[in-house]
Amino acid sequence: MTDGRTAPPAAIVVIGATGDLAHRKLYPALAALAAEGRLSTIAVIGSARTVMSDDDFTGRVRDAVESAADGYGWSALEKCATFRYVAGAVGDPQVIEDLTTVLDECARDGLTDGNHLYYLATIPQLFEPALTALGEAGLFDESEGFRRIVIEKPFGRDLESARELNRIVLSHTAEHQVYRIDHYLAKDTVQNILALRFANAIFEPLWNRRYVDDVQITVAEPLGVGHRGTFYEQSGALRDILQNHVLQVLALTAMEPPAAFSAGSIRDEKVKLLRSIRPLDVHDLSERVVRGQYAAGHLDGEDVAGYRDEEGVAADSTVETYLALRIEIDNWRWAGVPVYLRTGKRLPKRVTEVALQFKEVPHLALPGEVESLEPNSMVLRIQPDEGICLFFGAKVPGSSFDVRTVSMDFNYGDTFDERSRDAYERLLLDVLLGDPTLFIRADEIDQSWQVVQPLIDGFPLGEVPIRFYDAGTWGPDSADDLFAEQDAHWRTP
Ligand code: BG6
Repeated sequence: MTDGRTAPPAAIVVIGATGDLAHRKLYPALAALAAEGRLSTIAVIGSARTVMSDDDFTGRVRDAVESAADGYGWSALEKCATFRYVAGAVGDPQVIEDLTTVLDECARDGLTDGNHLYYLATIPQLFEPALTALGEAGLFDESEGFRRIVIEKPFGRDLESARELNRIVLSHTAEHQVYRIDHYLAKDTVQNILALRFANAIFEPLWNRRYVDDVQITVAEPLGVGHRGTFYEQSGALRDILQNHVLQVLALTAMEPPAAFSAGSIRDEKVKLLRSIRPLDVHDLSERVVRGQYAAGHLDGEDVAGYRDEEGVAADSTVETYLALRIEIDNWRWAGVPVYLRTGKRLPKRVTEVALQFKEVPHLALPGEVESLEPNSMVLRIQPDEGICLFFGAKVPGSSFDVRTVSMDFNYGDTFDERSRDAYERLLLDVLLGDPTLFIRADEIDQSWQVVQPLIDGFPLGEVPIRFYDAGTWGPDSADDLFAEQDAHWRTP
């Protein structure tokens, strides 16, 4: 991990420089890093189709920084950064020639020490032409400085296309140059899963099939697809959240302790865990998977439209905005423990959490009323209200021996004064410092697509029909049927 260190000088080439991601995340993140004194000199080189001057580009970055939620850091960024712009289509040879010229000028001016970071902040269809153009121009050659490439999710559309993309990436680069993003890994609370499990002696002994009854992971959002309907039609909840964010959170929750806190060891353990997930059977999905799509409903006091009425969405779309499934992990630690995963848009609130429900005591010999006693559980709240909550039984004061569920709460915001760094700040700094721990390795991407591929194959066969749910509810009622074999239910966060 990279805390306390300052990034070396570098050119940061943003391909897709006028896009939403660059404006909302990358430029504000660079400004925040500059304000914290984490950057030395940098050259921010934007590239996109829109024609504009270096000054226009500088103005755009400034606007993006100033209109971001935190909205600070522009003056610090201005001091350490030089802004240049190259207009044109990604694969165009002229663009690559212009880019090479600008990179050489910035190196000659002593701004970059010859280091290049290429950020693919563009639509996935342009990943391949961008990689090929950069590769064929020799721009990944590391003899003059480091050459690193950041690739945004989604990495591929399915197992085959992800393998093909990996093949293309690795035909131009070596794995150590590639940083595949899953921004969930850079959230403090996601990393805290590792701290909780491996820096404490009291939890890990319980973290297994002997004591855990089931595990539930929820990634819920009240937002609809907004202006991203066209993108979402190609993606659905499976590709947008399940294949990446949910499986990464699961991997950290369920993996074995790494031998060292290094990128290699942690990623090895995550891959091992993903490999132990029992493969889903394309013809046996109906009992294990529920797909939903939001219909019009009521949320936060407002009427909201159904998915099919969103901009860019087909009127008869069968894309899922909700997905829930039950899986098993076939290894020594988790054999027989069902794991429930769910994610959805237009659910009642924004919450990402991991909940472990523990087994009941073997014999309850207490004399009083215990009806309101739930099994013990522990909830790791990834966002919002970041923290950890432990639910257990306590005696109700009085002469009888009644027991009621109570909670013990740790809240990040109340406990720490330190500012939590935005995921993109963390990720950009890590790439500049060459720390790949929070990025996804090629074999991890491959393995996570292997987990979800049976769903991709099974959905078109009609194995799992779409169920509609009203916006503002917790998804289709049939999601409760996943618990048919167990005396449990979805937790209401
Ligand atoms: C993105 C998805 O990866 O994650 C979005 O494409 C989703 O659809 C977002 O809204 C959620 O991220 P966060 O950090 O707000 O939980």
